Amino acid sequence: MHQVNLAEDIYYLGFNDRRTHLFENLWPIPNGVSYNSYLIVDEKIALIDTVEHSFVEDYLEQIEVLTDGRPVDYLVINHMEPDHSGALKAVVAKYPNITLVGNKKTFDMVANYYMVTVNTLEVYDDSELPLGKHQLRFATIPMVHWPETMVSYEMTSKILFTGDAFGSFGTLDGGIFDDELNLLMYEEELMRYYTNIVGKYCPHTQRALKKIESIDVKMLAATHGPVWRSNLSYILDRYQQWSTYTTETGAVIVYGSMYGNTAKMADVIARQLAVRGIKNIRVYDASKTHPSYIISDIFKYKAFIIGSAAYNNELFPSVESLVTKIEHMGIKNHLLGIFGSFGWNGGGVKNLQKFAENIKWELVYQPVEEKGALKQEKFAQCIELANAMADKLLG
Ligand code: FEO
Repeated sequence: MHQVNLAEDIYYLGFNDRRTHLFENLWPIPNGVSYNSYLIVDEKIALIDTVEHSFVEDYLEQIEVLTDGRPVDYLVINHMEPDHSGALKAVVAKYPNITLVGNKKTFDMVANYYMVTVNTLEVYDDSELPLGKHQLRFATIPMVHWPETMVSYEMTSKILFTGDAFGSFGTLDGGIFDDELNLLMYEEELMRYYTNIVGKYCPHTQRALKKIESIDVKMLAATHGPVWRSNLSYILDRYQQWSTYTTETGAVIVYGSMYGNTAKMADVIARQLAVRGIKNIRVYDASKTHPSYIISDIFKYKAFIIGSAAYNNELFPSVESLVTKIEHMGIKNHLLGIFGSFGWNGGGVKNLQKFAENIKWELVYQPVEEKGALKQEKFAQCIELANAMADKLLG
């Protein structure tokens, strides 16, 4: 194996997962994902997080090589989600005298997930752990994106180990540091990771960023994706932007359509937005495009226009699934338009109005609802909806 140093005696110890289709059995990862663990070999030896359980065998072998057979003294648990704690039980079995390092939320999770009894060290904001030449300092960042999440700062090399914060989907295909790879290839996956996994917790992310601001950081080492050392402002600026719901001028139009009538309305609205000079327009069929990609684009663009056919007097199921996710995520600061069609009794637009009430985004125009195929009057209203949205976006 290649030995990858972040600094003297500090090693990258991660694995690429190109097999899993759905991260958390929910979010598509066509470009895979990496699970990054780190190892500090000093007078004391510390692991920082572990890896997903299917990599345990290789993981333990690599630790053995890098430590030259010495036992590991500490396992620092920045985050307990099993993609990072998956090797915990095996590590404890191999190093029974190890001490688990976590905060007051961590060890209850350790007991519940892994039923292990082992030495623990509870740390708080600004607690320090000397390892020899190196020393770790801790700071909790609750709900980014679990209650126990924290960061660990290596004070000599100024590396901040951040758990999921600043992580990305996408495997590390050779390059591990941000300056060894083409960041453009990661931009979409970085945003999709933030919006899908952490995006519900924007206010908590803001608090975490403020906490991190005061630390002199030379490197950000997350549990997924590249290690950031040359483009810190690139990643920090994006986190600042996304966690404050700062959007670009543009529109995401999504529809659920059985026979094409609601889809036609979407195309009319999209065309009129373009006529009015809006260039960033994405139109998605909710039955084809996974919410993962749509949610990421909602974080990117200010306007969201959603259409639904009626289905058994309710929302079209793929639209229902999407708007439920959006509501749960509590995304803020958007403009909204709604439209749809029905055959005999409605149910699509009526329920989109409930969504509008719940999400509390500014509804820029009255709901547009057609019975059957799109006809002149509702065609004109689709144009008016697009004009109202363009006025808001450009105004
Ligand atoms: Fe990558 Fe929240 O685990």
